Amino acid sequence: MAKIRVETTINGEETEFLCNGQESLLEVLRDGIGMTGTKEGCTTGDCGACSVVVDGRLVPSCLVLAAEAQGRNVETIEGVADGQKLTPIQQQFLEHGALQCGICTPGFIVAAEKLLEKNPDPTEAEARYFLAGNLCRCTGYDKIIKAVLDAAAVMREERA
Ligand code: FES
Ligand code: FES
Repeated sequence: MAKIRVETTINGEETEFLCNGQESLLEVLRDGIGMTGTKEGCTTGDCGACSVVVDGRLVPSCLVLAAEAQGRNVETIEGVADGQKLTPIQQQFLEHGALQCGICTPGFIVAAEKLLEKNPDPTEAEARYFLAGNLCRCTGYDKIIKAVLDAAAVMREERA
């Protein structure tokens, strides 16, 4: 089958790849480009482990065709930190011990970054609702939500 050539931007860098028409963005990110930070959980859009941002919108990359990335801006977990400097959300995940196996963590962080971009001062209920599409089978959700709310407070303080 003829391959499709896709030109896209990933974490600010112009990128080209070849894919077939059935391949998901998740498959190309992990297996084609070697960006394995985005995790594969269910591949059916139910767990959020594969969350990325495409043109500003949080999406499960297992449900996006790789060919749909043509001409778009894709942001993955690899682009979240500023070099070695962790974001407040990443730092708070560490400080709260909000991970165990880590499979869900990149998806949670990508989603939480988007939450705090849209709503810098979420209530606990708002944070839980926004992150309801991300599942964790290890930690439960309390530490994750506390990490996100504390990161929001740190970010508000930094901006003040
Ligand atoms: S792997 Fe995409 S939502 Fe679960
Ligand atoms: S830390 Fe294992 S699924 Fe969340």
